[in-house]
Amino acid sequence: MYPESTSVSATPGPPSGLERRRFLALASSALVSLAGGARSAEPAGNPEFAFAFVTDTHLGRSPSEEKTLPRLVDAINRSPAVLTLFGGDLVDNGQEPGHDRRYPAWKEIVKGLKKDWYAVAGNHDPDELFCKHVQAETDFSVEQEGVRFVCFRDAQPNPGHDGLVTPEQLRWLQDQCDSAGRKGQRVILVAHVIYHENKHPDVGWYVKEGRAAFAMLLRANPHVVAFLAGHFHCGLRGWDDTFGVQEVVLPSASWNQNRGLDKAPGYSVNEFRLGYVLSEVYRDRLRLHYCLLDGEPTVSRDLMLRS
Ligand SMILES: [Fe+2]
Repeated sequence: MYPESTSVSATPGPPSGLERRRFLALASSALVSLAGGARSAEPAGNPEFAFAFVTDTHLGRSPSEEKTLPRLVDAINRSPAVLTLFGGDLVDNGQEPGHDRRYPAWKEIVKGLKKDWYAVAGNHDPDELFCKHVQAETDFSVEQEGVRFVCFRDAQPNPGHDGLVTPEQLRWLQDQCDSAGRKGQRVILVAHVIYHENKHPDVGWYVKEGRAAFAMLLRANPHVVAFLAGHFHCGLRGWDDTFGVQEVVLPSASWNQNRGLDKAPGYSVNEFRLGYVLSEVYRDRLRLHYCLLDGEPTVSRDLMLRS
């Protein structure tokens, strides 16, 4: 059973003005119009806050991940992010014998983050090990300013790669949406596997079990504005045709490949280096900055949010 509410309030507080100015000086040259869309007018005012999204760190896959993750932690500590979300596949093949030790190793590095962090489990992360070493719950929410991040496990365990949402999760998700609605919060969903149906040349991994009921939930709750996921390893990839919900898959910190998605539905960016995404939250948009391991922003994209 899921607890009625497992909300965690992230540490409040505005991003440091100095950190933000430094970051924006770098980011301003990276903000480009992508996928043929017209660049939107600049947002009014300052962002409400910024958060970091790191996904598919796959610690243990090769010696390089051990070096990559500390660099990301350092970069995020220098960024304006007030919290960090990890999008799953924290370690590589956590289900294999002996790989359980990868979780304390992962956490030892991640605890270098100076601000709050939260993680969802991926297909490489067995629930038992995730809850033992990383976080007590796989499904939880985080409230920050006027946003509620509703985070949940939708990944089938290895060797599965598709997504599923159980009836119990659907009830919990609706409770979270109702609670957010009463508080006037916008909801950003966070999970490992995206909802958007994606077929060749995409990988074809998306929420398949519980799909119809999950679609009804997305359609019925207009304050659900975005769905952030990982799992694809193809840089930054997204769609804006899901009942007004911005769906986006974020770049892996372990490996990314160019799948030639230029003509596929949705959008992708021509950047595949390892990194994370720094997202600034405005009233009308999420401004995503694809940042490399040293924190340098390279390409950015505005996701306009329904109001
Ligand atoms: Fe995955």
